[in-house]
Amino acid sequence: MKPIRLGKNLTRDIKRGHPWVYKKALDPKSLPKQSGWYQLADQKGKPLAYGLFDKGSELAFRVFSVGLPKDPVQLMRQRISRAFELRAHLETSQSTSGYRWVHGEGDLLPGLVVDRFAETAVVQFDGQTLHHVWDLDAITDCLLQVDSKLQRVVFKPQSGKGEAKVVHGTGEHLSEFLEHGMKWTADVIHGQKTGFFLDQRENRQIVKSLSHQWRVLNLFCYTGGFSVAAGVGGASQVVSVDISKPAIEAAKQHWQMNDLDLKKHEAHALNVFDYLEQSRGAQFDLVVVDPPAFASSRAAVEKAAVSYEKVFSEAAKKVRPGGLMAFSSCSRPVDFQIFTEIVTASLSKARRVGQVLSISGQPMDHPYPQACQELRYLKFFLLKLD
Ligand SMILES: C[S@@+](CC[C@H](N)C(=O)[O-])C[C@H]1O[C@@H](n2cnc3c(N)ncnc32)[C@H](O)[C@@H]1O
Repeated sequence: MKPIRLGKNLTRDIKRGHPWVYKKALDPKSLPKQSGWYQLADQKGKPLAYGLFDKGSELAFRVFSVGLPKDPVQLMRQRISRAFELRAHLETSQSTSGYRWVHGEGDLLPGLVVDRFAETAVVQFDGQTLHHVWDLDAITDCLLQVDSKLQRVVFKPQSGKGEAKVVHGTGEHLSEFLEHGMKWTADVIHGQKTGFFLDQRENRQIVKSLSHQWRVLNLFCYTGGFSVAAGVGGASQVVSVDISKPAIEAAKQHWQMNDLDLKKHEAHALNVFDYLEQSRGAQFDLVVVDPPAFASSRAAVEKAAVSYEKVFSEAAKKVRPGGLMAFSSCSRPVDFQIFTEIVTASLSKARRVGQVLSISGQPMDHPYPQACQELRYLKFFLLKLD
């Protein structure tokens, strides 16, 4: 098979560990007709790397290895096993059986995501056509070999790209698991993403540690992650808001599963903007705002900033003087610098002045290559507002 050639000199970046080449940086004459595994050559035709070509995506080539691996399947197995070992402490010392087992490029397995919910693993691919390129059977065999406790493997396409299917084992659509001792379920068939937003695990711990005797508002709550964390932390009242009815039902279920007082939780299946409008005058000690990714590409950042500023500024008005607000975003193209500017503009719009208490992001089961800051995607800024 003829190698794909670089059209731009990215040799140094690739050798430093940057795993991505956009279509515009590839020689158009060298592009194959089909997605698949290919060699990548430099501009002079010298072999450089091996990886996945994603025909339908601007992010066209993802590096699996610099140089040509002797046995790619064996290398995949080694990397899945290494990723498993990296997370071993979560289960043993942190009472956590729900975590991201494979985080794509961060584990040198480009485009491959595996989330583990106790005995269930959920496989998902990032990209337009990568589900045709990665060998799902080989991945499933490998997961089962590495983790003897695994009972079930589910393939869950990205939203809008088909139905989830169980590829090994049987079981309910809900998988139970623990996160820092809190009890959860993930709907691994119908839920959003792989069923649960595991990436906010350590940020939920921050909320848990602050919430004692506080009134907490959780906007875009999904299945109540921050709500239950606040409840377990001793919140006097928690209000959860999400547009998805099944998510709100699950949030109520999770509150109950964790033996929390039902009188202390109010859950609304509502558009956040409608809730903010309807609840004029309500004030909280802590407001958490974790909207969906408003920007999926760099071109969409400007428009997304307007949406973030709108929701953050309205939410800031719900924070009592001296209360706290958590601003979060999972949009990849919105980096920490841009997000700082969005938070500044939102506070200014709300006529509030902020004091930064902490800035955090994704936990260690969501690693990224140091050379690829684009994969440092989760932002979680905690501020005290005047
Ligand atoms: C990033 S997720 C939140 C994850 C959540 N914080 C957690 O820890 O599980 C974004 C959520 O926003 C919800 N959503 C999207 N648009 C909404 C809207 N206009 N109003 C309310 N919820 C919305 C989605 O249903 C989804 O649950």
